[in-house]
Amino acid sequence: MRFDQPLRVSARLAPPLTWAALACLLLGFAGAALASAAEQTATTLCAACHGPDGNSVAPTFPRLAGLQREYLAKQLDDFRAGRRTNETMAPIAAALDPGMIKELAAWFAARKPAPGPATNAALLELGKAIYMDGNPTTGVPSCSGCHEEDGTGSPRYPRVAGQHQAYTVQQMLLFKTGARTNDRGSMMRSLSERMTEAEIAAVAEYIAGM
Ligand code: HEC
Ligand code: HEC
Repeated sequence: MRFDQPLRVSARLAPPLTWAALACLLLGFAGAALASAAEQTATTLCAACHGPDGNSVAPTFPRLAGLQREYLAKQLDDFRAGRRTNETMAPIAAALDPGMIKELAAWFAARKPAPGPATNAALLELGKAIYMDGNPTTGVPSCSGCHEEDGTGSPRYPRVAGQHQAYTVQQMLLFKTGARTNDRGSMMRSLSERMTEAEIAAVAEYIAGM
């Protein structure tokens, strides 16, 4: 048969490899090459602020380790398109192409989150009450309703557990003042508007220790 011929020739050239194994090997190489391009960017450029494994040390640089890849990719797209503004991240995100954004998001999502930073015990009781039950008097809903009881989140509602207190406070204030507007349906803006700064500080402290 005409079509049999080249197959048999190649099979003789590489006797131990079945075609399936060869295909897997080639796909494996392609995968490794893609992963390493993203990994290289992550461990050099991004690492300068977000830490070598996405667990930043400086409290105003968010921890990215273990956040949902959907959320991370959305934030990078939003910075790139100007839907979320930040002087530092906007030019960095603008320099990434869509394929790289996906790869970076997947890479950071796969990092293991380090234990949360030390917390101020005096704020934890109020912080936990707000996280679990909200504030019924002022109409603040519970955070756990969207971000899950343990703060690990889901593709629609990002992980918050273990995030730096200072970063969380900053983002809550950006939502509250309408400076950050990339939350679908104003979910975060409408609830942070009803929160006092003391409540924000307390819930951010509780989140950091989760
Ligand atoms: C010079 C410091 C710096 C570098 C380098 C940097 N970032 Fe950032 N990144 C920040 C800061 C600061 C913020 C918080 C921005 C804000 O307040 O909105 C941030 C926020 C983010 C967020 C949003 C996190 C969240 O929880 O919403 C993502 C995602 C992100 N960076 C990814 C990256 C990636 C990927 C790289 C490398 C390509 C990178 N960053 C490089 C400083 C940096
Ligand atoms: C109705 C659902 C909902 C509730 C309730 C909710 N969140 Fe969110 N939250 C979201 C969504 C959606 C986002 C992602 C916004 C985006 O896409 O940028 C978010 C984002 C955040 C962020 C930004 C994370 C980051 O890495 O930048 C913080 C911090 C946060 N929420 C804290 C809270 C706190 C604290 C509470 C309780 C007081 C709370 N959320 C209640 C839906 C909710």
